[in-house]
Amino acid sequence: MSKSEAKSEEIQQHTFTLRDNATGESYDLPVLDGTEEPSVIDVRNLYQKTGLFLYDPGFTSTASCSSAITYIDGEKGILRHRGYAIEDLAENSDYLDVCYLLLHGELPSPEEKVEFDHHITHHTMLHEQLMYFYRGFRRDAHPMAIMVGVVGALSSFYHDSTDITDPQQRMVASHRLIAKMPTIGAYAYKYSKGLPFIYPSNDLSFSENLLKMVFSVPADNYDVNPVLAKAMDRILILHADHEQNASTSTVRLAGSSAANPFACIAAGIGSLWGPAHGGANEAVLRMLSEIGSKDRIPEFVKRAKDPKDDYRLMGFGHRVYKNYDPRAKVMRKSCHEVLNELGIDDPRLELAMELERIALEDDYFVERKLYPNVDFYSGIILKAMGFPTNMFTAIFAIARTVGWIAHWKEMMSEGPPQIGRPRQLYVGDQERKFATIDVREHKQSRGWSWLWGNSKE
Ligand code: CMC
Repeated sequence: MSKSEAKSEEIQQHTFTLRDNATGESYDLPVLDGTEEPSVIDVRNLYQKTGLFLYDPGFTSTASCSSAITYIDGEKGILRHRGYAIEDLAENSDYLDVCYLLLHGELPSPEEKVEFDHHITHHTMLHEQLMYFYRGFRRDAHPMAIMVGVVGALSSFYHDSTDITDPQQRMVASHRLIAKMPTIGAYAYKYSKGLPFIYPSNDLSFSENLLKMVFSVPADNYDVNPVLAKAMDRILILHADHEQNASTSTVRLAGSSAANPFACIAAGIGSLWGPAHGGANEAVLRMLSEIGSKDRIPEFVKRAKDPKDDYRLMGFGHRVYKNYDPRAKVMRKSCHEVLNELGIDDPRLELAMELERIALEDDYFVERKLYPNVDFYSGIILKAMGFPTNMFTAIFAIARTVGWIAHWKEMMSEGPPQIGRPRQLYVGDQERKFATIDVREHKQSRGWSWLWGNSKE
């Protein structure tokens, strides 16, 4: 009996019977219960027993692993890290508290907190030689493009933390990644502006440091606004982890081949970049600017509802939440606080609230349970704080690094990972006889049609 089978037996309560109508055969499959609903049907032996695979391209009904880090009840709008509600964490803790909680399973004691903060603070600087990598990028490179490259390059600098079989090296790599991401992200921004890199300061908190490295210049004094530092910290907490989302699953999949942690996180950054995932906050701001005024909202809502139009309202809908995203509620409140503090009267906030009101009353959105998600408000806050739009997803990546790392560590601590290797429903040609070039059919030249013709291959 394998280790994973032994583990699953402990939590198995009953079986699920699957019947193949073609053969009349029935198969009993174990049902495994976690500490919260829903339970899962253990199909690991399904192919062996039936010769059939499961088909679930978007993983809408598939649990890819077991995990003790984050729990989401999408129907009720609940998000908890290690049992603690996200609302409590956002209100009462700071980002490094949450990092410790995600990595270790418990909130730190006062002594552990001091030690952890010290470790992270003292790993924020980058190897000087790493700076040369930035020069290889175009000036107008997207910060996410730079971050994928620079984080991947970390594996060539920190050889003393790439032995994934050593728990101590795994921990050092975790600290390095969490600590260096703000520096890497801030430098990506500075590079794109042609401004000097600002070194991290050990007397500042994680969030204060991030703001300082992004917004200060050596020629001027820079005092971190405490309201903005608090808001920054909250943004980081709200984005710290979110269970098996696309980028976290990417990190786990990369890690399952025993790749080093820096390579795994670089893969996660690439996955986060897409507008359906971390790129959504950037897309929300573009959308609000495009809508422009309240009277144009119905036109855009109509497009979003049109089945023939691919257009979607950015910042609405979520694969898991079929209720108001609990993070969006906190973010909405924070958004008002920041705009008040800065005395900003951003018409986009008013537009966003009106769009939210109209969408939440519309049958299309109500029936499909499409509520505002975390990204609906985060872009407005980040813009008000002075971040350029293309840094929004970079901030998300900085915050999510701890979640990626916590999941990677959890997977590695369970012993050598089983490589993630999905199967497929093959729909291509069946076996054909090879045709040599002299017997293949001649085809008309495509001429210039490729330039303006149907772009579909
Ligand atoms: N605007 C209009 N219609 C939508 C939207 C939207 N934003 N989202 C989903 N729908 C419709 C969709 O057209 C479909 O309609 P129908 O049943 O008539 O075909 C139905 O709702 C279900 O959509 P789906 O694509 O099957 O849902 P999904 O779970 O695969 O997609 C999503 C989830 C987040 C990719 C999607 O809601 C979306 O594209 N939202 C906009 C992008 C966005 O805000 N992403 C950030 C997600 S939160 C941050 C993060 O986790 O990274």
